[in-house]
Amino acid sequence: MFRSHTCGELRLSHIGNEVTLAGWVQRSRELGGMTFLDLRDRYGITQLAFNLEDNAVLCAQAGKLGREFVIQVIGKVIERTSKNKNMLTGDIEIVVSNLVILNSAKLPPFTIEDETDGGDELRLQYRYLDLRRNTMQEKLRLRNKVALQTRIYLDSKDFLDIETPFLIKSTPEGARDFVVPSRMNEGQFYALPQSPQTFKQLLMVSGFDRYYQITKCFRDEDLRADRQPEFTQIDCEMAFVEQDDILNTFEGLIKHLFKTVRGIDFTEAFPRMDYSEAMSRYGSDKPDIRFDMEFVYLTNETKGKGFAIFDDAESVIALNAVDCVEYTRKQIDELTEWVKRPQIGAKGLIYLRCNADGTFKSSVDKFYTQEDLAAWAKKANANPGDLLFLLSGDLEKTRKQMNELRLHLGSELGLRNPNVFKPLWVMDFPLLEWDENNGRYHAMHHPFTSPKPEDMHLIQTDPGKVRANAYDLAMNGVELGGGSIRIHDRDLQSRMFDLLGFSKEEAQAQFGFLMSAFEYGAPPHGGLAFGLDRLVATMGGSESIRDYIAFPKNNSGRDTMIDAPSPLNAEQMAELGIKLK
Ligand code: AMO
Repeated sequence: MFRSHTCGELRLSHIGNEVTLAGWVQRSRELGGMTFLDLRDRYGITQLAFNLEDNAVLCAQAGKLGREFVIQVIGKVIERTSKNKNMLTGDIEIVVSNLVILNSAKLPPFTIEDETDGGDELRLQYRYLDLRRNTMQEKLRLRNKVALQTRIYLDSKDFLDIETPFLIKSTPEGARDFVVPSRMNEGQFYALPQSPQTFKQLLMVSGFDRYYQITKCFRDEDLRADRQPEFTQIDCEMAFVEQDDILNTFEGLIKHLFKTVRGIDFTEAFPRMDYSEAMSRYGSDKPDIRFDMEFVYLTNETKGKGFAIFDDAESVIALNAVDCVEYTRKQIDELTEWVKRPQIGAKGLIYLRCNADGTFKSSVDKFYTQEDLAAWAKKANANPGDLLFLLSGDLEKTRKQMNELRLHLGSELGLRNPNVFKPLWVMDFPLLEWDENNGRYHAMHHPFTSPKPEDMHLIQTDPGKVRANAYDLAMNGVELGGGSIRIHDRDLQSRMFDLLGFSKEEAQAQFGFLMSAFEYGAPPHGGLAFGLDRLVATMGGSESIRDYIAFPKNNSGRDTMIDAPSPLNAEQMAELGIKLK
């Protein structure tokens, strides 16, 4: 037997036992004729003790072991004189009688402990070492539990796990495709799926009724903390259902996951909010509702007093930072610089202090009387002690900027507790989105999403107003997942492609297979997909998904550990019939 126990297993009840352990040397220290080693494996850390008096040779050998050496030891479990309450095995130690060095190790480029001195790039380059750290292992354990419980729940609801191909034809879901050249079909390319969307719809046409898959998706888009070029979806589809059946089924999944994985009970139904309301109250289709700070529209209250910026603005929006009147000039200046960064793009930030004595002080008070300012405060429900921030301009842009400021302030003020979870279904997204650059409509979700029947009359006259049977699940400001009721009628699907500016030929070339399938008895169907990485990161209390993926890419889409992407050699290029420009 290589080892009789793991490094996380031994307790007072094992005292007197002879055990064999194997693992990595985390650190060693010498103390009064003794050498102590922390031996680590996936399960924990156990202290090993070597006594100079008992066995000088062994003790000397132990003293020479470097960090991350792999060793096997045999020894007796004894009670520790100075116990460590922070360690599960802190009551015992092993007096070692036999030591085998299984492998030596170079000095690692950063310390492999919960708190490491390694920077992000270094940790990614030596990801296999980073993953040895307990904090990282915990994150992947969480991911494993979520995936396992997802399977248990969906299996209990008769969902079948069915794989779909990775080498496919491009599906237009908003991002660019990653493409793969075909050797056997020179000059032709596969695309890696942005999601299994059309395949899961075809499975519904085949009669599978309830499908799911935990699968990789690939999107060539700009990366952010919550975006990776390859990521994992819990992808689901159901036939013969209405929207509520889908929402209830997957609300059930999320509740099951929180209960079984984190021990958190959501007893109430998840709240639902229309997209238009979410945009109006929070300027976001994934509002963080752990805190209030809702938008207050002061467009009318600020007009006509000679302040040109507000007079000319389509909208003036305020936020009430409750109890923040003590913010210093410096803090306000920093916030102003923050909203003026190109990523946010505001021109400036106006404040209104609601002083404790009932007076008001604003950055624009040469244009406004105390009564004017009192009217702002009243509309914003602000009390003495509060601080209002105002942004103005084009409605849509100002909402976006204000959303950023709201989240930023929420974080600064400690209102976004990572251990509080606030789900929200965002409903009735617009069907289409106007693309300024190309002067045409895009599907907001994807082209297979069905319009709301009651909005169908607008489809020719005012397409931008048509709402879709589409929904997202947001939690803590993160879009965890989204889906829709699909079009299952060939003619409607074909009209949709028309509206999106596809010619008949283009629609046929790209989606002929789906439209043909719809001619052979397609059932009404719909579904949704959760981003597994985002779900797990949110459950773990983090906004960054990278730590929850074993081998992620860096911000430039590179895997610096294996050094990908990288050029192909001439022979491979020739075989593929590819020449670089
Ligand atoms: P959608 O594009 O909304 O829908 O994707 C579903 C969920 O996948 C996650 N996600 C990502 N996670 C990490 N990195 C990315 N680059 C990334 N892109 C998306 C998000 C998102 O909510 N086929 C449809 C689903 C459907 O209609 O059933 C789809 O892919 O959490």
